[in-house]
Amino acid sequence: EKPLLPYDQIGAETLSNLVDAFYARVSAHPKLAPIFPDDLTETARKQKQFLTQYLGGPNIYSAEHGHPRLKARHHPFPITPDRAQAWLECMSEAMDEVGLSGQFRETFFNRLVLTAHHMVNDYDSEE
Ligand code: HEM
Repeated sequence: EKPLLPYDQIGAETLSNLVDAFYARVSAHPKLAPIFPDDLTETARKQKQFLTQYLGGPNIYSAEHGHPRLKARHHPFPITPDRAQAWLECMSEAMDEVGLSGQFRETFFNRLVLTAHHMVNDYDSEE
């Protein structure tokens, strides 16, 4: 039997709800809101595409935007360790909101912890 892809486990609808719940928190977070656009519609659309392929679903992010090059795409933004922590807190709360739990949530979240830490590019400018 083929193992179920993480993307199939979560499903497109819950993934979409997760991203919406996440950016609602980002836009209200004092450490994150200042570096994000006011209108997060397009950001959320890209993040849904990205996480779809990150979880093994169709490569719809790359089809539209090319290779993710995530670290390079974050280069214009000062990502401090503090902001990585805040990003992960918003994601953890969003996971609570959409009801992710158990082994699936743990594995997914742990991958995001590694990716978030990899995005850190600014160790000086706190606020
Ligand atoms: C884009 C911040 C971590 C995936 C962005 C943007 C900001 C940002 C400011 C630009 C938004 C826009 O202009 O639309 C941060 C911060 C992080 C973080 C502070 C803390 C560590 C992550 C992680 C992932 C991720 C862990 C993936 C799991 C993306 C994607 C985009 C993006 C896919 C859109 C790239 C594009 O323009 O095509 N992020 N990010 N980010 N971020 Fe992050």
